[in-house]
Amino acid sequence: MANKNKTVYICNVCGYQTPKWAGKCPDCNEWNTFEEQQESFSANTHVSNIVSLKLTDIEEFSEHRYDTGISELNRVLGGGLVKGSVVLLSGDPGIGKSTLLLQTTHSLGITKKVLYVSGEESPHQLKLRAERIGVYCENLSIICDTDALAICEFIKKDMPDVVIIDSIQTMCIKEINSLPGSITQVRECSNLLMRSAKTLNIPIIIVGHVNKDGNIAGPKVLEHIVDSVLYFEGEKNLSYRILRAVKNRYGSTNEIGVFEMKDKGLKEVKNPSQALISGKPKSVSGSCIASVIEGSRPILAEVQGLVCQSGFGNPRRMSTGFDYNRMSLLIAVLEKRAGYFMGNCDVYVNVAGGLKIDEPASDLPVALTLISSLKDEVLRDDCISFGEIGLAGEIRSVSFAELRIKEAIRLGFKKCIISESNLKEIPKDYKNEIEIIGVNNIRSAYYEAIK
Ligand code: TYD
Ligand code: MG
Repeated sequence: MANKNKTVYICNVCGYQTPKWAGKCPDCNEWNTFEEQQESFSANTHVSNIVSLKLTDIEEFSEHRYDTGISELNRVLGGGLVKGSVVLLSGDPGIGKSTLLLQTTHSLGITKKVLYVSGEESPHQLKLRAERIGVYCENLSIICDTDALAICEFIKKDMPDVVIIDSIQTMCIKEINSLPGSITQVRECSNLLMRSAKTLNIPIIIVGHVNKDGNIAGPKVLEHIVDSVLYFEGEKNLSYRILRAVKNRYGSTNEIGVFEMKDKGLKEVKNPSQALISGKPKSVSGSCIASVIEGSRPILAEVQGLVCQSGFGNPRRMSTGFDYNRMSLLIAVLEKRAGYFMGNCDVYVNVAGGLKIDEPASDLPVALTLISSLKDEVLRDDCISFGEIGLAGEIRSVSFAELRIKEAIRLGFKKCIISESNLKEIPKDYKNEIEIIGVNNIRSAYYEAIK
């Protein structure tokens, strides 16, 4: 094939490609987002120099990890920051990304040379923030610039141990004719940084903003390029923040780290269950403790429900921290299989503390809070429950039952309602410390929860 020069148009929001310019992106429905790009390659001048390796011949490589000094962050990274890896830290503006990274430099900087590149703040602002959160680090150097090529040159010359880029949306390559934050700039800058990280074996943490739909602003491609993607989430007006790995080439993706935003920066929450249930109101209907597994650890969380007479023909349903469709399904099961009628009621579900739970094990506590609110009866304060609810109204077993019960015992709960089939696998000695009840339908579960 002869030389081929092709023009493609790429949407700078979602990365959709089309050979023709269009005003509206058919994929994400944004207007005026297409950018022109030349795609060129020449097939017959290409010389192949690929060699293959036998798996057994490849030298063993032990990942070298740096301790970030923040154990919740280490946990989410899979045990520390891997040398030469590229980590994307993303989250809503103002959630605390810059604060978290500046805080890591405090302990990282004791033994490592850290370079903090900020395209968003001036050196004075950074200094002010560092003073406020008590970060003092002699090995921390700061660059306030956005020229990605110059920054990579600097990294090569200076050879720091860790690089932080805050944020990728402010970085640009001058030779590329599009604005910082656009898909082309973001992609090229991340590729450039990625190459530096891999060739120089320096870990780079990149901050990425999230757009209004909750996706990483700019291209989705960014997620494919990097080794790990961490999301920093939480309600801005609540103080708890949850750090979650959504992709990790060097560890598990379901670990979470819990932080609290204080006036002196982020504080690790070592005992998240305690923190999440500490605000639980006593003797109030529509509140139940759920037990969810996040990664390898159990977390207790308070689920609240409110069921009240609807003033309109169309009842309102709202859910925060719990899947909306799952809630609708549970309401249907409660009506059809257990006889709790909510068809003419507004129903609200809320998981306290800004936690999001998406485990089937939280079906039972959600159902119990809804019934409790509907009947305005108080559930026992010292009782937790977990179990999946099937469409026939049966309570099904869930995994990690032992872990969940251990956590409930640790926090002083006295009663635990689980599915009958789960009960069989629980060792006897637990039963001395907590009353464990196995149930097989919603009605008996509710009866046990108020007894
Ligand atoms: P920041 O780290 O700048 O967010 P991001 O980099 O993700 O945009 O966090 C800013 C928010 O955190 C701001 O709303 C104020 C709050 N904050 C505190 O509550 N306490 C503190 O000590 C600091 C530094 C910030
Ligand atoms: Mg910031």
